[in-house]
Amino acid sequence: MNRIVMINGPNLNWLGRRDEKHYGKNSLQELEDELSEIARDNGCELLSFQTNSEGEFIDFLQKNYSQAIGYIINPGAYSHTSLAIMDAILSIDKQVIEVHLSNVTSREEIRQNLLTASACDGLIIGFGREGYKLALKSLIN
Ligand code: DQA
Repeated sequence: MNRIVMINGPNLNWLGRRDEKHYGKNSLQELEDELSEIARDNGCELLSFQTNSEGEFIDFLQKNYSQAIGYIINPGAYSHTSLAIMDAILSIDKQVIEVHLSNVTSREEIRQNLLTASACDGLIIGFGREGYKLALKSLIN
């Protein structure tokens, strides 16, 4: 089975409670369910994980390396700060696509540095949940 690994970082467990303007109304569970169904319909398995911890983010990325055909990641605020996650992605020779729900380029200065994305194969920002679906379709294809 082709396994795609999706990792969401800090505070993304609170989708549905966070600012609707940036993050929409739906919960993370709804997003995971919807993407799992798309993956299944296309002969793939989606393994989803969310953590608020930088170390757990890296552990999950590494632990699932051998079975994964690719990754969809949203490191949340760690995208702007984490050299450690960036280094972990750099040592992965599988497709890694970073997704941001909001258009971070039109937000505060502090969100302009996309450290982890610079190590990824692709970056999708500002399309809300649709961005995750685009990433998934790209990996499936
Ligand atoms: C986010 C953007 C980050 O700047 C923020 O810290 C998040 C969510 C996004 O999906 O738009 O937690 O990654």
